[in-house]
Amino acid sequence: MIHLAVSNVHKRFGGLHVLKGVTFEVNGPELIGLIGPNGAGKTTLTNVLDGAIKPNAGTVYLNGERIDQLHPYEVAIAGLGRTFQVTRSFRRMSVLENLYVPALATRRNADKTAIHDKAMEVLEFLTMAHLRNEFAQALSGGQQKLLELGRLLMLDPGIVVLDEPFAGVHPRLMEIIYAYIRRVNEEGKAIILISHQMDSIFSLSQRLLVLNFGDLIADGPPDEVKRDPVVIEAYLGTEDPEEGGGGARAGAGAGAAEGGSGSGAGGAGSGGGDGAGRGARDSGAPGGDPDDSGDDGASTPRGQ
Ligand SMILES: Nc1ncnc2c1ncn2[C@@H]1O[C@H](COP(=O)(O)OP(=O)(O)OP(=O)(O)O)[C@@H](O)[C@H]1O
Ligand SMILES: [Mg+2]
Repeated sequence: MIHLAVSNVHKRFGGLHVLKGVTFEVNGPELIGLIGPNGAGKTTLTNVLDGAIKPNAGTVYLNGERIDQLHPYEVAIAGLGRTFQVTRSFRRMSVLENLYVPALATRRNADKTAIHDKAMEVLEFLTMAHLRNEFAQALSGGQQKLLELGRLLMLDPGIVVLDEPFAGVHPRLMEIIYAYIRRVNEEGKAIILISHQMDSIFSLSQRLLVLNFGDLIADGPPDEVKRDPVVIEAYLGTEDPEEGGGGARAGAGAGAAEGGSGSGAGGAGSGGGDGAGRGARDSGAPGGDPDDSGDDGASTPRGQ
């Protein structure tokens, strides 16, 4: 049974206090949404969780093991995996080889036939088997996102943090990501899903965390969180002021267009952007430090 305990985590970048004592736990195969305005600290928290950056204070324990001082590959071995807001892949390796890397990098005496079979199964699931011999750099932005999810499946971690998996992804591929999230969750894994796409967040999450400039301002059932006046004020807003709140924006526009225009982030002032370029600071993919694909769904507007 997965247990993640994040306690009083602080992160400062110079004078910027980005995480201000973040505390929460994950108990078992929960499917948790993590939302908040651009710059709230969501990616920074992800970077702390996977070991890419060290917190200035606080601790992170995974299944009783302290992981906040470990390297990302050690965190991956401990059972926490993440995807990147700006996708990463080994651009000049084939799709299949990209899937081998995490498995080979984290397992000694790996059975190469078993890894190949698993990689093919993962590609079938992602409907990408026909692309197995393509260079990763030939993939579309959405397919790059799927490839990252595939690499996580190869590692099979107990908890995964998905940082904006839908940004810039064609609706057809979004369906596959939905299926992926449900599959991983049904397999007993915990998921922390970061997204500005409220449709996706509210249809998938069983629990919702709201981060607002370093403070976790809400943690609870999505229906309650979206009615919380503090959350509405900070992030969700209201579609119709006459309603007096109620998180009306919570169903608003999730329509992403792959590499295209229009995020469909509905409602004036909604958290629609996906933080273009921010994830370029992310680092520490298990098994190496692959190139940046440059796909960041930058066409979505910044909402805050
Ligand atoms: N390596 C860094 N050095 C300096 N400042 C940083 C660094 N990483 C993040 N920041 C700053 O920390 C704040 C939080 O950034 P972060 O990327 O975690 O936000 P976010 O919630 O993921 O935003 P978005 O929704 O846009 O992706 C921002 O002000 C950002 O500019
Ligand atoms: Mg981010």
